[in-house]
Amino acid sequence: MSISFDGRVAIVTGAGGGLGRCYALELARRGAKLVVNDLGGATDGSGQSDAAARVVDEIRAGGGTAIASGASVTDPGEVQAMVEEAASALGGVHILINNAGILRDRSFANMEIEDFRAVVDVHLVGSANCTKAVWEIMRSQAYGRILMTSSSTGLYGNFGQANYGAAKMGLVGFARTLALEGAKYDIRVNTIAPNAATRMTESLFPPELLGKFRPELVAPAALFLVSEAAPTNHVVGAGAGVIQAAFVTLTRGIALAEDDCTPEAVADGWDRIIDRDGEIVPKSGVEQTMSILQRLQGN
Ligand code: NAI
Repeated sequence: MSISFDGRVAIVTGAGGGLGRCYALELARRGAKLVVNDLGGATDGSGQSDAAARVVDEIRAGGGTAIASGASVTDPGEVQAMVEEAASALGGVHILINNAGILRDRSFANMEIEDFRAVVDVHLVGSANCTKAVWEIMRSQAYGRILMTSSSTGLYGNFGQANYGAAKMGLVGFARTLALEGAKYDIRVNTIAPNAATRMTESLFPPELLGKFRPELVAPAALFLVSEAAPTNHVVGAGAGVIQAAFVTLTRGIALAEDDCTPEAVADGWDRIIDRDGEIVPKSGVEQTMSILQRLQGN
């Protein structure tokens, strides 16, 4: 199977460097017209630069079509203007990769609430701003592919990243709901949890592993997840060529009688509550409620 993006218009946010740049270059190489978005700031979100324009130059030098956008994903007006320009200059929007991100790492005890808000604003609200601006276009053309960028921190936690973890798991819930709402318009929504040595993470990797965790080895999973053949509603881990899927499971748990539904009974049943034998993966929130009803019927 060969995967082509001929005739598709893609917006990649935060594509002035790191992973987003790799996604944009590879999408362009495979025929997509690109909006390369990037504010061009430092890892903590401060400052601005022409990072997006430099990636546009690279794409054009390779024979591709691209326009630069310096919009901040946190500004709904700037985002709307970016999407309108994509639609008029490039002929639509078929793919959105919400990739822009910043870090303000500190243990929660030392974290100012402003650093919590700033991180949630860029990753979570920024992704909502961009998605909102393309949603109606994708619905009316009955085609769309959206990729959110989560993180192992969102899925599993990481010391010093309470703000980032909250934003990144928020994106999973956002994507899961959009996957359900977009299904009948062939809008497929997935989430990637990448692992790559970029300016954001390179200090975390031992030097001998930097070469293995090249961002280019994440791009194939991202591209598949925004291709015509993409699945929907999946969370995919990708790093160093290892591609995995993450699921939020639900154990069978215990069913307490109404007159025995006490904290003590929960304590007594704890080992069975967390026993993973027979766990399921609900496909929606409603399915969790259904699983409760099934237990009440003795199944
Ligand atoms: P990066 O720092 O190279 O890329 C992030 C880009 O987003 C930067 O170019 C930055 O200028 C841009 N950006 C920041 N705020 C923006 C705003 N308000 N509007 C527009 N652009 C903005 O880092 P990297 O690693 O490429 O990160 C890409 C995404 O992957 C981020 O969402 C990050 O959280 C996520 N991620 C990366 C991991 C890794 O191992 N590198 C691990 C897990 C998640």
